[in-house]
Amino acid sequence: MDWGLQNRLSRIIKPNDGKAVMLAVDHGYFLGPTESLEQPKKTIHPLLKYCDSLMLTRGILRTSVDARFPVPVVLRVSGGSSIIGQDLSNEKITTSVKDAIRLNVSALAMSIFVGSKNEHNTLVSLGHLVNDAEEYGIPVLAVTAVGKELEKRDARYLSLSCRIAAEFGAHIVKTYYCDNFEKVVDSCPVPVIIAGGPKLEEHAALELAHNAVKAGAAGVDMGRNIWQSVYPVPMIRAVRAIVHGNVNVNEAYDLFKRLCKENPLKNNKPKPQTQKLKNKSKNIKQKKKK
Ligand code: R5P
Repeated sequence: MDWGLQNRLSRIIKPNDGKAVMLAVDHGYFLGPTESLEQPKKTIHPLLKYCDSLMLTRGILRTSVDARFPVPVVLRVSGGSSIIGQDLSNEKITTSVKDAIRLNVSALAMSIFVGSKNEHNTLVSLGHLVNDAEEYGIPVLAVTAVGKELEKRDARYLSLSCRIAAEFGAHIVKTYYCDNFEKVVDSCPVPVIIAGGPKLEEHAALELAHNAVKAGAAGVDMGRNIWQSVYPVPMIRAVRAIVHGNVNVNEAYDLFKRLCKENPLKNNKPKPQTQKLKNKSKNIKQKKKK
């Protein structure tokens, strides 16, 4: 593998254990001012030192992250639709590789929408992005997006999407956790990272991360389940303990509770609505929440 590409990849997936804790804060590119991410700088700042890399758009990188802080950046370069528009799958590449190099990013990220009206366009875009990015030794992360159709998140569909992303040359694939997640990981020849999805209770979110890593995921690219928690720092530290520290769910939850006690809230924010994990073993059914 090209030296630059390998070097950038190792900023995201840590070579000592092959695992990654990515913090996703790119939601505004189609959701606008998502709950708890209304002022990105405030949300991101306390979490920066606990993530291995940060996934976001160039607009939020430029305005909300201190350029002097050495956090590796995974830059979202696709977009073009919003939650109130006709079709979320209608995405194109919106940020050039040249600008990504100027921003000194460690990887590029884009969504593919397999089985959607824009399947063809997003897959061809992925191929072109890999061509362009590899010229400069920049890895590409493909997100297997489902738009509003959250029910699509089963092993059959996600295996199909992840495998196609890898076949087109993606160096990392980000997808959702599902029952039989091993099948998704086993049939994808590049590292698979999971998104957290809509907000769950903290114990359920930790269980999701633990199940995914146990099934072979290389880590998480989690957003709402960290920064929509009333205790974002304890939450990211507990997720980190699962991904890099090999702890089980209860150990991670104990750590979360201990860190919450050590860092009491200054303002008593109302607790955001959350959902229990319906089937404690694996079946993660999540409620759509902006
Ligand atoms: C969705 O396409 C975005 O890329 C998010 O970064 C992704 O869904 C991860 O965030 P969350 O854990 O909130 O689902």
